[in-house]
Amino acid sequence: MSLPASDLTKQPDNRTTMELGAVLPRTAEVRDDHLFVGGVDMVELARTMGTALYVMDEADMRSRMEEYREAFRSRYPNSDVLYASKAFQNKEMVRIVNDEDLCLDVSGGGELACAQAAGFPMERVFVHGNNKTPQELREAIEAGVHRIVVDSRIELARVSRIAGELGVVQPIYLRITPGVEADTHEYIRTGCEDSKFGFTMLDDFAFRCIKDVLAAPNVKLVGLHCHIGSQIFALHSFREAVAVMVEFMARIRDEYGLVIEELDLGGGLGIAYTADEKPSSIDDFAECTIRAVEDYCAKFDVPLPRILVEPGRSLVASAGVTLYTVGILKTLPNIRKYVAVDGGMSDNVRTALYHAEYEPTIANKAGQPRTEIVTLCGKHCESGDVVVVDMPLQHPDLDDIVAVFGTGAYCYSMSSNYNGQPRPAIVFVKDGEARVTTRRETYADLMARDI
Ligand code: LLP
Repeated sequence: MSLPASDLTKQPDNRTTMELGAVLPRTAEVRDDHLFVGGVDMVELARTMGTALYVMDEADMRSRMEEYREAFRSRYPNSDVLYASKAFQNKEMVRIVNDEDLCLDVSGGGELACAQAAGFPMERVFVHGNNKTPQELREAIEAGVHRIVVDSRIELARVSRIAGELGVVQPIYLRITPGVEADTHEYIRTGCEDSKFGFTMLDDFAFRCIKDVLAAPNVKLVGLHCHIGSQIFALHSFREAVAVMVEFMARIRDEYGLVIEELDLGGGLGIAYTADEKPSSIDDFAECTIRAVEDYCAKFDVPLPRILVEPGRSLVASAGVTLYTVGILKTLPNIRKYVAVDGGMSDNVRTALYHAEYEPTIANKAGQPRTEIVTLCGKHCESGDVVVVDMPLQHPDLDDIVAVFGTGAYCYSMSSNYNGQPRPAIVFVKDGEARVTTRRETYADLMARDI
């Protein structure tokens, strides 16, 4: 794959780092031309801990968790915020989620195992996935998770059987595909009708399945779930999904006499990856979803349910910064300028996969204007191995430390060892202190499972 041709007329924006606004972690500042996050000098951190390096601004993440909690609880006490582990998970992250009194969504046995190892209370864990294996289901039920979000009729039978074998009745949600087209990249749209996720509403399939759910002996249907996609800016998509879900709740009540007590609206709130993007706020998201539930429950005369949301990206993406060292510079006349860094698609596959956009700065020139247009490429054996395509940057020199903002979500969790690249360490920074929460992989780690 080669890159789309550069727009050679694109002009640098001459912004300095602090002019990147909402893209920055909340504690970002510039002192003596150096980027600081959490009171820690990113240049010094990169030089002492090595690059590539994932840095997470702990105060940023905690403040967004608090914002979510307060935005929902203050308006609607019967609500809970679940952190979607898939965005970014390590044990320290799980401890912080617990400390901030959020619930946890896991989608895969490994995410559940990490939550258990970090001592997260299982009665606040929700389990997702469109093809949970029988073993994963058994592990989850044995662990005593709060809710399992059932994704298909085959899975319903599996959950019921395994719960029966374990002698428990498992509370479940059904994941419904509400047929709403969210305004986002097609690869991360999930609520539209052509989806591998959930029970489709086509031919009234989801509704007809309720009968099977009620007949299944070892499960108790307590709620419905939907997730319409990710990186969504337009809140009206959430309102449309609520309308479909609440009408569905009314039909279940009318036909089967069952009141659905819990409604999980998934995640999906977008963030600013570039300085010009204007996402909706956490507060507006809470206002919109709660108002929609209240409005449609009144319209369909349905009792108000417990409301749940499952943000991933909007809790952690902006807290993350990836630090790299510039290793090679190549200027191709009338094509583009390549700045090669010591990472790439192994630590951030989002650009290769979704043409994601990121804002970079040079951490050791952070007070200077970004006067050039460059492409940050990685060190992997693919032309498509890019992290930042045609974005403004200060004039780069060898050994500069480049910081890429907005990498806290879906970078570490989607990382790989391509070309034998050890995964970077993860450092949490707060109040001038840096602590390693996941150590850098070693070559020995890469071979640890080989026989
Ligand atoms: N709940 C469910 C059931 C989900 O599938 C997801 C994300 C979330 C919650 C959290 O959504 P968020 O608030 O983070 O948008 N790898 C892609 C994103 C995939 C999202 C998958 N599901 C990316 O890097 O953009």
